[in-house]
Amino acid sequence: MSGWKVPLALAGLRWAWSHRGRAPEPEPRNPGELLLWGAAGAALGVAASALSERRRSGLMNGKVVLITGGSRGLGLQLAREFGFGGASVVICARGREGLDRAVAELSGRGVRAHGVVCDVTDPDAIEDLLDEAERHFGRLDVVVNSAGIMRVGPQETLSDDHFRQAMDVMFWGPFHLSRAAVDRLRPTRGTIVNITSIGAYLSVPHMLPYSTAKHAWAALSEGMAAETAGTGVRVTTVVPGLMRTGSHRGVVFTGDPEREYAWFALAAGLPLVSVSAEHAARRVVRATAGRRGFLVISPMARAGMAAHGVAPGLTQGAMRLVGRLLPDAPGDVEERPGSEAGQSRLGRLVGAVTVLNERAGRRMNQRSRVERISQRNEEDTP
Ligand SMILES: NC(=O)c1ccc[n+]([C@@H]2O[C@H](COP(=O)([O-])OP(=O)(O)OC[C@H]3O[C@@H](n4cnc5c(N)ncnc54)[C@H](OP(=O)(O)O)[C@@H]3O)[C@@H](O)[C@H]2O)c1
Repeated sequence: MSGWKVPLALAGLRWAWSHRGRAPEPEPRNPGELLLWGAAGAALGVAASALSERRRSGLMNGKVVLITGGSRGLGLQLAREFGFGGASVVICARGREGLDRAVAELSGRGVRAHGVVCDVTDPDAIEDLLDEAERHFGRLDVVVNSAGIMRVGPQETLSDDHFRQAMDVMFWGPFHLSRAAVDRLRPTRGTIVNITSIGAYLSVPHMLPYSTAKHAWAALSEGMAAETAGTGVRVTTVVPGLMRTGSHRGVVFTGDPEREYAWFALAAGLPLVSVSAEHAARRVVRATAGRRGFLVISPMARAGMAAHGVAPGLTQGAMRLVGRLLPDAPGDVEERPGSEAGQSRLGRLVGAVTVLNERAGRRMNQRSRVERISQRNEEDTP
């Protein structure tokens, strides 16, 4: 049980408890009776949970879904949700180890899953990926562009290459995959799902390579949605606000890594600011099944987009303020992944507040390369 089902089970328990209190004969209050009522309440919650699973299952029956960046984070949660809906899933990522863990977990949950090692920045690998997805499960219905990378720091600490890398993964990758997928999706009247970001519409300071690439990707996605009209192929643009995927551990922080990590992890992990990856994935699957063209996830993202649309000068002013509050670029520029930057005293302090995102990381198969390497080193040390 997860998400709203736990509160539901607890509500069932509470109902059972209050019902018991109104019983005409309050005696005897023995532990056996308590257990009985407790079990009744829990059963209520589980039954409601099963009902909701049944409603979800069948949504994607017989469909084949290809997800880039499916080894962890949102991509993995999407693979689970599409799988629970009856789809077979092909997931791709660069790292074999994370991919294997994800496929094993999905298979263990009864999802037909196949993993392909693939770097979306390589156009030839994209064609091979599509071939492999069609060959393995016999058809292709949905292609989800979810692979992404992030680097956080003041723009003067970033090189041209950092911008190029962001564009390679989050513009040229989806560009090649979407263009190659359109023809293949025609026979199945399929869907391309593009996971862009609120960063595509509101350029957040210290995240410029990310926002630049996402902005280009969102333009591509919306334009392709218009140009594929009448072909049977649907393009869905998804705009998530902050989500608790646990990815802050894998983000690379430059300039003053510890302080950059602190503000970013705080924003990404606070409950009212961010939404759970489970919630986001459920909404994406429903939008895909319903062939929706546009989906904004989280009230914060919706409010941000609306404010920017109506009063761009105001949001620009707010971003200038944010920029002034963020850490300055130091004389000695350093760079560290979140898994290291989060070990500082400040990082640990933030971790105590953003415990939900730390837990999400464990559920979302987030073990950064750095953590894996340091674990391997520890194992190798005699
Ligand atoms: N988390 C948020 O708050 C948030 C908010 C808005 C939008 N989004 C977007 O949602 C998507 C998922 O985010 P996330 O937080 O779940 O990220 P994540 O946990 O870091 O996962 C990224 C995934 O992409 C894969 N990947 C990275 N570069 C790749 C490449 N060149 N080729 C193939 N696969 C690659 C990674 O595996 P390998 O490293 O093994 O390749 C991993 O599976 C991203 O597009 C992100 O921008 C996230």
